[in-house]
Amino acid sequence: MTADSPASADVAHLDIGGETVELPIVRGTEGDDALDIAKLRSQTGYITLDPGYGNTGAATSAITFLDGEQGILRYRGYPIEQLAEQSTFLEVAYLLIWGELPTREELDRFVTEVTHHTLIREEMRHFFDSFPHDAHPMAVLASGTVGMSTFYPDSHEIFDADAVEITINRLIAKLPTLAAWSFKKAIGQPYVYPRNDLGYAANLLNMMFAVPSEAYEVNAQVAEALDLLLILHADHEQNASTSTVRLVGSTHANLYSSISAGISALWGPLHGGANEAVINTLENVVADGGDVKKWVDKAKDPDDPFRLPGFGHRVYKNHDPRATIIKRAAERVLKATGADDELFDVAQRLEEIALSDDYFISRKLYPNVDFYSGLIYRAIGFPKNMFTNCFAIGRLPGWIAQWKEMIESPETKIGRPRQVYSGAQARDYVPIEQR
Ligand code: CMC
Repeated sequence: MTADSPASADVAHLDIGGETVELPIVRGTEGDDALDIAKLRSQTGYITLDPGYGNTGAATSAITFLDGEQGILRYRGYPIEQLAEQSTFLEVAYLLIWGELPTREELDRFVTEVTHHTLIREEMRHFFDSFPHDAHPMAVLASGTVGMSTFYPDSHEIFDADAVEITINRLIAKLPTLAAWSFKKAIGQPYVYPRNDLGYAANLLNMMFAVPSEAYEVNAQVAEALDLLLILHADHEQNASTSTVRLVGSTHANLYSSISAGISALWGPLHGGANEAVINTLENVVADGGDVKKWVDKAKDPDDPFRLPGFGHRVYKNHDPRATIIKRAAERVLKATGADDELFDVAQRLEEIALSDDYFISRKLYPNVDFYSGLIYRAIGFPKNMFTNCFAIGRLPGWIAQWKEMIESPETKIGRPRQVYSGAQARDYVPIEQR
């Protein structure tokens, strides 16, 4: 395999079966270049094989840039550190979905739209009633999201710009309501309706924690921390749930069903479910006497399937910039809520030991976004099984932006990977009495 002069060449040459084929080189704006192998099979009969897609680009995308070696994350070119410091979740959502930072007027309009669509259809109450009280909130959220498409048939018009815009606003507005109601259902409390006088994160907190029998005041610092967490989760280019949203969306299924599929993909403990797994692990460490080293050794043992949740990342091999910001936020929230969290102490000790251990150093395993986010959710008062619901609310603008980019791209085709077949060769059917 050669490229004439890799930095400037337009094509690379692949020698295969005595033939040389040209593979166009696609240039990214940040030096992340790719070989276009779309015609490889028709030219040579070969496909490429890449289980887990660690080396496969599924799209060209102008939304999020991530450099795992340097620990860089930017939304539409803006560094995550600046957005975390200066922006708000709804402004970031606008940026991701519509491509540019909004003017004051554009932002006001967007916020007003989102704020005035937070109610869900009253019939949906029965929907919540019919689930068992111990249903996992992620299951309820995924079901509720696809369920919303039954009320909004205009969501099927995926090429109608007005229908798409109202669907986007409805989703961003209503997902917190669905998430909070799945929690209220689980704890047997009355559903709390959205309040239009509150900001996005404050409204979510109110719907989660208010009860009709007494006044509930949202802690402004807590609302700010939650808003920050949502910003940090808002997009992460082609991760498992986003790729799922794109794949389902590529069939021209409506946006609610694509997002619902993304929520299901996010649920797994190797992806968004890791924040819940982190707290489970920290609790186990404490219950086990607090011997952090023992648990680090367990994670290193090749004969033990246990891995340290919240450590490692497919792409980040230096540090996860979100984890650095989250750790500082966790300190602030613990202070604001007055929570003296033993788990935070265990987490810090775990991090310290792991980061000085050759196993973790040599494999470039660092704390990821989920390592400290669970501690913040916990300090706020979210139960563990609600953590990933919060992640889903944060990731929603990213999923939407990626779906929209895909639907609008002339390059898009239905997503349909190939395979290398390794099963039995052709054989004749054997009647059951002869087997
Ligand atoms: N604890 C112990 N060992 C680990 C860990 C861990 N958390 N993560 C990776 N390794 C080891 C792994 O066993 C392998 O070792 P060896 O080379 O000896 O076989 C090596 O590191 C490379 O791991 P990998 O499985 O090839 O890496 P991957 O890119 O396929 O997996 C990952 C990435 C995030 C799934 C994995 O690091 C992991 O399972 N971490 C724990 C779960 C977690 O925190 N997930 C959240 C990810 S960030 C947010 C999100 O995506 O939602």
